[in-house]
Amino acid sequence: MTSVGTPLERQDARAKVTGTATYAYEHRVEGVLYAWPVTSTVAKGRVVDIDMDSAMATPGVVAVLHADNAARLETNIDLGPVQQASVPELFVLQSKKIAYRGQIVAAVIASSAEAAREGAEKLVVHCEEQAHDVVFRARDPRAYVPSVLGDLGPGNVNRGDADAALEAAEVVVDVAYSTPAQLPHPMEPHSTLASWTEGRLTLYSSEQGPSNTSQAFAALLAMDADDVEVVCDYVGGGFGAKAAPRPPAVLAVLAAKLVGRPVKVAWNRRLMTAHATYRSPTAQRIRLGADGQGKLSAIVHEAQHMTSALSDYVDQTASSARMMYAAEHARTTATAVRLDVPSAGWMRGPGETPGMFGLECAMDELAHRLDLDPIELRIRNEPEVDPSDGKPFSSRNLVACLQTGAEQFGWVSRDRRPGTRRHGRWLVGTGVAASRYPVFTVPSRASATAETDGTFTVAIGAVDIGTGSRTVLAQIAADALEVPVARVRLDLGRASYSAAAFAGASLGTASWGWAVDKAGRVLRDRLRDGAPLGTTVDVDTTEEVSAMRDVSRNAYGAQFAEVKVDAVTGQIRVERMLGVFAAGRIINPRTARSQLIGGMIMGIGGTLMEAADIDETFGDFVQSDLAGYHFPTHADIGDIDVVMLPETDDELSPVGGKGIGEIGVVGAAAAVANAVHHATGRRFRDLPLRLEDLR
Ligand code: MOS
Repeated sequence: MTSVGTPLERQDARAKVTGTATYAYEHRVEGVLYAWPVTSTVAKGRVVDIDMDSAMATPGVVAVLHADNAARLETNIDLGPVQQASVPELFVLQSKKIAYRGQIVAAVIASSAEAAREGAEKLVVHCEEQAHDVVFRARDPRAYVPSVLGDLGPGNVNRGDADAALEAAEVVVDVAYSTPAQLPHPMEPHSTLASWTEGRLTLYSSEQGPSNTSQAFAALLAMDADDVEVVCDYVGGGFGAKAAPRPPAVLAVLAAKLVGRPVKVAWNRRLMTAHATYRSPTAQRIRLGADGQGKLSAIVHEAQHMTSALSDYVDQTASSARMMYAAEHARTTATAVRLDVPSAGWMRGPGETPGMFGLECAMDELAHRLDLDPIELRIRNEPEVDPSDGKPFSSRNLVACLQTGAEQFGWVSRDRRPGTRRHGRWLVGTGVAASRYPVFTVPSRASATAETDGTFTVAIGAVDIGTGSRTVLAQIAADALEVPVARVRLDLGRASYSAAAFAGASLGTASWGWAVDKAGRVLRDRLRDGAPLGTTVDVDTTEEVSAMRDVSRNAYGAQFAEVKVDAVTGQIRVERMLGVFAAGRIINPRTARSQLIGGMIMGIGGTLMEAADIDETFGDFVQSDLAGYHFPTHADIGDIDVVMLPETDDELSPVGGKGIGEIGVVGAAAAVANAVHHATGRRFRDLPLRLEDLR
């Protein structure tokens, strides 16, 4: 009896398309009020005075929340290395200092969302404005290694003597790439309903992690995490923007505390840019040293980012360069420049996405210099063990991905010469790039109950942000219990179900699945030993996860793209794209395919359309809504396909999967950019590739 591996339809599909799936803002509680934020119009300064008279006179307005009446939050808190860098962003209304444009400086609370918004528009906030610095420049001398991360930060390694090796190399590629800020914009903007009852707090909130959100609010409010329930029954996407709680949820909590009633907060698109996190722009310099046969001796990848006055977050942009290819000498650094801007944070494949754009384009440039097939170049630099630390790979099927893709994409007969194929007015070219995303596994708890009607309930504090976790976890549970999946009810989306990993870093299914698998097996064995119906078991995978062998775990892939470029207008169309991925066992090929193709489409958007620019005068993003921030529509996507290579890896969680949420986006931009070079003979090293730059 195996449910794992079958293309089961999403269990929540019907609820979602019929509108019965309840998202955070749709929960109903008695006596609810609505808060609308008032945000800073200056990028740096101080709130001096707030004139509340006309806001308070607005029909329906109940109160104004501001720095003088907001409850005090605990500021000396430690949320662990992953979340700590962004903690100061959560100190909403704890001071009158303004650190970025769009910061919450007050909120109006009213009996309807409309009244709250009207009141907010009438609130007059007087600010003292200070000169701001919001311009991100390549090679800014002020770039520093954020203290939260130190020398062991994302991507910082130094092995051998890279400078000497570059000096001695026969061929050197020394190139600079840039990528813009990108906005995650999940379909459902951030929203929270905060409700206090007898000292307990319930948050109906759109989050990627019920458990870590509960823990964060418990810390901020000096409460026991058991007294902070977080409900995320349905979440309309995250892309990293909801991986840790954000200011809108804090605002809802403070507002509810002030008025002693439940309060709802929903962000609109325009509020998202300052609070939803964004992918930092990067300025990268990559140097590759090789011999005449293309054997790499040195890789240097230096990546600069921007961060805010509040956050020390930095992407691991250079982390792939330290381990992708066998090079004896390597140096990788990730630094940040502190500016008076909103805070950058996670966005799908944070670091790997911009970093592999640079590295995989640089590899293509090296192959071109050597007149070598770019797949052959990668094969010649395939490492035996992880070059960054000498650890064995749990499995590494990059070469198999490249070769399978070459066959299926029709790469074999490719003429390497760039700018030589023309169909009418279209220049045609193909490109390839490698993809890689690390495998993380985090301890989780889960419970399983044998119900008296012969069904089973499995509960876990996991969340389904639209990826299909609800479905794949039910499949894993069914196999562990050895029953058909129709007899399993999978409950997730509540912190109280169990302490569990968040839906981020592509670690959800493997981490939750391990706990679900264990709960199912333990319960099955207990029933076999005669335990009665009604029995519940609780399990924890801390011991198993810590006993995992210390090896290098990564998923790999190969991205192939065919583009056509209009020789007259410069318009770029991606005609065909194929992604071949080796990501361990695929739990559900239907939802996996959707994840991987979604990632590749996001990659196409990141190559050709997506960009957010900071306005120098005001200090916030110019593209403040989806009219200005472009991403692909169906008409922009040609023939797109995915191959999932069968892969067995005994060094993973028993679920056997490596994670597929992010690897689909990694390498996609480089494949497209390399194809544009093949089509046109011109290199474009700055994303997005724009018509005006091509002509
Ligand atoms: Mo994802 S960007 O790790 O939430």
